Amino acid sequence: MPSCRGPIFPTYCASKAFLHYWLQSVRHQLRNVPIEVLELAPPYVQTELTGTQQASDPRAMPLDAYVAEVMQLLARGDHARGEVLVERDRARRSAERDGRYEEIFAAMNPS
Ligand SMILES: NC(=O)c1ccc[n+]([C@@H]2O[C@H](COP(=O)([O-])OP(=O)(O)OC[C@H]3O[C@@H](n4cnc5c(N)ncnc54)[C@H](OP(=O)(O)O)[C@@H]3O)[C@@H](O)[C@H]2O)c1
Repeated sequence: MPSCRGPIFPTYCASKAFLHYWLQSVRHQLRNVPIEVLELAPPYVQTELTGTQQASDPRAMPLDAYVAEVMQLLARGDHARGEVLVERDRARRSAERDGRYEEIFAAMNPS
């Protein structure tokens, strides 16, 4: 599941799905080259991406906490399959595998 609210931002989220697959392909193409291709897929973070209100939305992860966790993951080399995923985003990433796709999709896209 893309870390995205597709029904609200369909074109943007489709571009993220494209990017995910494109990065997988580039990573595979470069598998014999000493280059790591990493994907930084943030959860909902307190930036102004969708407007000034997002920067103070309590549902979004504080930006400094996100950056600090990412730096720890990079320092530990903790990015399986090239994906840099912070803890709060892991349930979303594995939703389909864990049989929780509908539940997490509904939580991200309330009616
Ligand atoms: N925040 C989230 O919840 C969230 C969730 C998932 C994914 N993401 C992704 O994370 C990335 C960063 O988002 P953000 O939340 O940090 O957004 P942001 O606060 O709006 O920052 C966007 C950054 O991109 C730069 N930028 C925009 N257009 C550019 C261009 N044409 N050329 C060069 N730089 C450009 C901006 O530079 P200036 O400051 O100079 O304008 C700014 O530094 C985006 O790809 C976004 O889709 C964010």
